[in-house]
Amino acid sequence: MKKLICFLFAILAFTPVAFSQSREVKVLNANWKFQKGDFEEASKVNFNDSKWESVTVPHDWAIYGPFDKNVDIQKVAIVQNGETIATEKTGRTGALPHIGTAWYRNTFTLPKDSKDKKILLLFEGAMSEPQIYLNGKKVGEWAYGYSYFYFDVSQFAHEGANTLSVKLTNKEFASRWYPGTGLYRNVSVIIKNNESIDQWGQFITTPFISEEVAKVNIKTKASGENTRLVTTVFDSEGRQLSSEESTQQFGNEFDQNIKVANPKLWSPETPYLYKAVSQLYAGTELKDEITTRFGIREIKYEANKGFSLNGKITKFKGVCLHHDLGPLGVAVNKAALRRQMTILKDMGCNAIRSSHNMPSFEQLELADEMGFLFLAESFDEWAKPKVENGYHRFFEDYAEKDIVNLVQATRNHPSIVMWSSGNEVPDQWGEEGVKRAKWLQELFHREDPTRPVTVGMDQVKATIESGFGALLDIPGLNYRVHLYDEAYKKFPQGFILGSETASTVSSRGIYKFPVVQEKNKQYPDFQSSSYDLEACSWSNVPDEDFVLQDEKPWVIGEFVWTGFDYLGEPTPYDESWPSRSSYFGINDLAGLPKDRYYLYRSRWNTKESTLHILPHWNWEGREGETTPVFVYTSYSSAELFINGKSMGVKTKNKNTPQNRYRLMWMDVKYEPGTVKVVAYDDNGKAVAEEEVKTAGKPYQIVLEADRKTISANGEDISFVTVSVVDKNGILCPTATNQLKFKVSGAGTYRAACNGDATSLEMFHKDSMKLFSGKLVVLVKSTLTAGDIKLEVNGSGLKSGKLILNAKK
Ligand code: GAL
Repeated sequence: MKKLICFLFAILAFTPVAFSQSREVKVLNANWKFQKGDFEEASKVNFNDSKWESVTVPHDWAIYGPFDKNVDIQKVAIVQNGETIATEKTGRTGALPHIGTAWYRNTFTLPKDSKDKKILLLFEGAMSEPQIYLNGKKVGEWAYGYSYFYFDVSQFAHEGANTLSVKLTNKEFASRWYPGTGLYRNVSVIIKNNESIDQWGQFITTPFISEEVAKVNIKTKASGENTRLVTTVFDSEGRQLSSEESTQQFGNEFDQNIKVANPKLWSPETPYLYKAVSQLYAGTELKDEITTRFGIREIKYEANKGFSLNGKITKFKGVCLHHDLGPLGVAVNKAALRRQMTILKDMGCNAIRSSHNMPSFEQLELADEMGFLFLAESFDEWAKPKVENGYHRFFEDYAEKDIVNLVQATRNHPSIVMWSSGNEVPDQWGEEGVKRAKWLQELFHREDPTRPVTVGMDQVKATIESGFGALLDIPGLNYRVHLYDEAYKKFPQGFILGSETASTVSSRGIYKFPVVQEKNKQYPDFQSSSYDLEACSWSNVPDEDFVLQDEKPWVIGEFVWTGFDYLGEPTPYDESWPSRSSYFGINDLAGLPKDRYYLYRSRWNTKESTLHILPHWNWEGREGETTPVFVYTSYSSAELFINGKSMGVKTKNKNTPQNRYRLMWMDVKYEPGTVKVVAYDDNGKAVAEEEVKTAGKPYQIVLEADRKTISANGEDISFVTVSVVDKNGILCPTATNQLKFKVSGAGTYRAACNGDATSLEMFHKDSMKLFSGKLVVLVKSTLTAGDIKLEVNGSGLKSGKLILNAKK
C-alpha cells in the first residue's frame, strides 16, 4: 500500500512540471493601442503610441460611427439583382466609417527560455489586408479579411517585451455588405517547443461507426526527431475511454486508430462531444499537448434520397448569417452568438451557412455544443469581380492558402457537414469558371476527403450548359424556385440544395395596406410590410420554398436569407438614404423576432406548438377598414374572434402556397379591442388560444433580460429587451419614445439597438428611440463580480429597473 501511495505522489508531483514545459497560448485581448490613419513609423519598437486610443480586441473601429451617407457610396448596377443601369447605392456597406488605414500595437512578454522555443502569432481574422510587424521587422502579410492565418515568428521574437504592430487597410468598393474593420477576432501568441504538434496539424475522423464501436482515426502532424505520441480519448463527462501510443511516423504524421465502445452519436438533437488529448514525448519528456473536441457522426449525400445524418434522412432547416452582430459590429462576442443561436434553436432551425466567408471559431464551437449543422463558406468572388476592389484582386495568390487554412483550422468540428467554395460568383459564366470550380473543389477534397463541396448558384441555366453545376458535389441553387425541376433533371447528382432561399423583406412590427403580394415594393417611410408577402425581383416569399421542400424528396433543405438582419445591403431601399441595414432577417438587427420567425417556427419546431397572430391591433384611424389577420401556427385550423365575434374557422389547404402554410382572414374590419384565435386539433377540439389587444397610452417601461446572471469576465453580455406597456400591461406596439439608459455596479452599458433599418442613432450612445414599441439594451460585465443595475427612463413614463448579477 505504501508503494502505491508513493507512486501516485510521484505522478502528481511530476505532472505540473511536465505540463508547464509544453505549450502556452496567450490571447492578446487587453492593452492594445489603436489609431486610425497611416503612420510609417508605427511598426518601430520605439514609436510613441501613448496618445493613441486604448482598446481591447476583438475590436471594430467603425461601429462607433457616425453613420454617413457618403461612406463607400457606390455608383453601380448590381448585376446579380438584374440591374443594368448604375445608380447611387448609399447604405450598401452600412454607411459606417470603415474605409481607410489603421494601426494596432501591443506588447507581450515572453519567458526566459523562449529563445529555444517556437513562437507563433495567430490571427483569427483581421479586416483587412493585414501587415504584421514584430519588434520593428515585418513578419508577413495576408489579404482576405475573413481568413485565419498564423506566422512562425521565432526568428523575430525574444525574451522579455516584444512589440507587435499591425497595419490594416480597407478599400472602398470592396464589399456588398458591412465587412467591419479591425482586429475583430482573437489574436494569440503560441509558445511551444521545437518538438511539437503542428498548428492545425491534427485531423480526427470517424470512418467506422456501429452501435457497438466507432473507429476514431487521428492523424497528427508533428515536428521533432524520435518522438512518440500518446492520444487519449475522453467522453463528455471527462471519463477516460481509451488510449494509444505511437512511435511510428509517416513523413511527419502519426496515424492512430482508437476504439470507442458504444459511441454516442453527435446530432443537432444530441450534440455529444468527445475529447482527444494528444501528448508528444521525446524520451520521457512531455514536449507538447493539445486537446481537440470531436463528435462521432456519419454524413451521407445520396441521389434521390438526399442528406442523411447517422442514417436518418435530415433536411436542412437552415439560415444564412452574415458575420456582424448588429450593434456590436463585427467584433466577435460569444454571448451575442449564443443568443442568436438560442433564438434559432427555439425556431427549430438546425443549420447555419456562414455567408459568404469563414465562420468564427466561437460560432463553430457553439454549433458543436448546441447542435447545428454547418455549411462553412469561403468566398463571394473568385477571379471575376462583383465589386471593384473585391476578392478577385487576391484570388490567384491566395485562394489556395485561404482554403487550406479554412479547412485545416476547422475540420474537427462535427457541426461542419459541407464546404462552400463560393457564392454567386460571376465565374459561373465561361470555361475558365468551370476549371476554377473544379480546382477549388479538389483543394477542399485534398484537405478534407470527408465532406462535400457546394457553390451557391444564381446563374442556373448557364451552369447547366457549361458543366459548372454538374461537377459540384452538391448543386446549390440560390432562389430560382422555378428552375429546381430542370436543375434536378439535368444535373447528375440526384438532389438539389436550396443554398439560399426566400429573401423576403419585412420590418418588425410594421404593416402596410392593402395587403398584397409584391416584388420590390417600396414605401415612403423606407420600411417593408410584416405581412411577409414582399420579396425582390429575384427572390420569393417563404411559402414557395416550403412547397419545394415538402413535395420534392430530392430537395435536401434550405438556407433562408437571412436569420438576422445585418448591417448594409438595405434592399429594397439600396438607393434610399438613410436605410443602412437589411430587411431580409427573420429576426431584426436587435435580434428581436419579426412575425416571420413564427412562420418558420410553426414548420421547423416540431417539438413545441406555435400560435401567433399578426398584425398588432392599434390602428387608430383605420376603424372599419379592411385589416387582414394572419395566424402562423403549427395547428392546421383555427377560429378567429374580434371582440368575441367569430370571423370563421380557417383550415390550411393546398389552394395556394400561402393557404397551405398560413391561416389568413383577409376581410376583417378593424375595430379596437381584442383579437383572439382558438386553434383546433384534427378532431376539432380547441387546444390552444392566443390574444392581441389594443393598447392604451404608453405608461411604463418593462425590462426583460435573456440572462440575469452573467459571467464577470469582461466580455459576457446580458441582452435586455425594453418595451413600453400601457396601464394594463399591454405592449404599445407603435411606441417610439426616446429612452435613456444607465448602468451602475459591476457592469457597463455597451450598446442599444431598436431594429429600425433607417435609424441613424449610434448603438453605443446611451439613448435611443423605441421602434415598434421595443429595443434591446446590451449590458456588459466587467472583471468584478456583483450586482449590476440597469435603469431605463423616458419622459412621461414610469422607469424600468432591473438587477442583473455578474458571477466569477
Ligand atoms: C443573393 C446574395 C446575397 C444577398 C441576397 C439578397 O443573391 O447571394 O449575398 O445579396 O442575394 O437577396
